[in-house]
Amino acid sequence: MNTKQQRQAIIETAHRRYATKKYDPSKHISPADWRTILEVGRLSPSSFGYEPWQFVLIDSDKVKQDIKPFSWGAVNSINGADKLLLILARTDVAYDSDYVARLVRDIKGHLYSKLSPVSQSFKHFQENDLHLASPRARFDWAAKQCYIAMANMMTAAAELGIDSCPIEGFNYRKMNQYLKEHHLVDTKHWHAAVMVSFGYRDQPITPKVRQPLADIYRKI
Ligand SMILES: Cc1cc2nc3c(=O)[nH]c(=O)nc-3n(C[C@H](O)[C@H](O)[C@H](O)COP(=O)(O)O)c2cc1C
Repeated sequence: MNTKQQRQAIIETAHRRYATKKYDPSKHISPADWRTILEVGRLSPSSFGYEPWQFVLIDSDKVKQDIKPFSWGAVNSINGADKLLLILARTDVAYDSDYVARLVRDIKGHLYSKLSPVSQSFKHFQENDLHLASPRARFDWAAKQCYIAMANMMTAAAELGIDSCPIEGFNYRKMNQYLKEHHLVDTKHWHAAVMVSFGYRDQPITPKVRQPLADIYRKI
């Protein structure tokens, strides 16, 4: 494939990715394709490399039916998508948290100290640049990063001919409460960020409707 064809293929993938409203429940994603999509999520970028996410496959029909009443945006996906993925965002990513200490030590293989230059610059960044002054602000910051992983997974899926739908049409308070009451998630440290479904569409793609580039892109 030459560069021109590559560009064309990229744009075709972007057109092909479509927020799928009707899935064919008889079609299933192969294990190899699913591993590829998850791997792309795992390899996604995160602030300071602290990976504030968890990917939870909602496989249980009971859980799917239980969450349906407060997940209006997921009903179509629950009714037909092969995979329904809940992405959790870490609530307490901070320079002095056990979570960051574990990531730095066990994953990155670096020495960890609250007083190290990296820890202190992360503290400064969160407090003075991002102004993360509340637990809610810290969660939102982590959740933004979860959306990057979700987007990467949807693009990878589209390249594999797999359809997807991003989902934030659910009641977040009820979802977290449900996950807590059913002991499915440690909700002290993890809250629902977003869901995303994958499978095969049972509908034609409608052409994309978007603002022209001239309205959304400019130089300063
Ligand atoms: C953050 C986010 C949340 C969304 N939530 C839902 C949802 O809950 N249910 C749904 O059916 N579609 C949802 N969508 C899909 C959008 O409606 C869709 O992406 C948009 O209309 C553009 O259409 P397209 O993705 O097919 O190009 C969501 C999209 C994004 C990016």
